[in-house]
Amino acid sequence: MTGLSPSASAAQPQPQPLPQPQPQAGAQPGARAGAGALAAVPRPRGRDLSAPELQSFVRELAERPELWIDLIRHDASQRVYEELLSDAHVTAWLICWMDDQDTGFHDHDVSAGAVAVVSGNVREERLTIGGERSEIGQRGRKFAAGDAFHFSAADIHRVRHGGSDPAVTLHVYSPPLARMGAYTIGADGVLARRTMPSSEELRPQEADDAAVPTRPSAAQAA
Ligand SMILES: [Fe+2]
Repeated sequence: MTGLSPSASAAQPQPQPLPQPQPQAGAQPGARAGAGALAAVPRPRGRDLSAPELQSFVRELAERPELWIDLIRHDASQRVYEELLSDAHVTAWLICWMDDQDTGFHDHDVSAGAVAVVSGNVREERLTIGGERSEIGQRGRKFAAGDAFHFSAADIHRVRHGGSDPAVTLHVYSPPLARMGAYTIGADGVLARRTMPSSEELRPQEADDAAVPTRPSAAQAA
């Protein structure tokens, strides 16, 4: 795993087995399928996708490990992001998680999205205020390999690594993710939203946190 010494790596939990890609006629062994193969994965064309349609699409991607399995790597210092697809209506990312990596609470501006877990576990939490709770709280669900979930542009959530084994997830957004909102709770309990471009890394926010610049070409979605 990238970023770990051999001795440290020996102490780390090993990833769960991933689905193995089936050989494709005419394909070079070990070669990742190109953009054409990704673009050919079934989905509605010529318009944005709804959240349930995105969940169907991300499941289709999850069933085609030959399209993304060679991009998997884990880094203890940050989540690893690889863009799989981007066009006028959809963006798709592979994200690798380990340790306590966490997006913090955020929204996706105008984009809906869906996530498929292909290895390990992640936990999704929704921000709750009032309702059955008297204070700001969280409602969480744990997702394991084979699971998928979706969210609308109206939803506020956080996603964090769960369990001890490194995790791998696929994420799709429509319309393509351009901006997000990151949420903070000040010392006085006031909830605030900071808009941020998708080129910044999502992480749990302190009220006075500055943006964390990362690779300018890599969206840091979750
Ligand atoms: Fe998200």
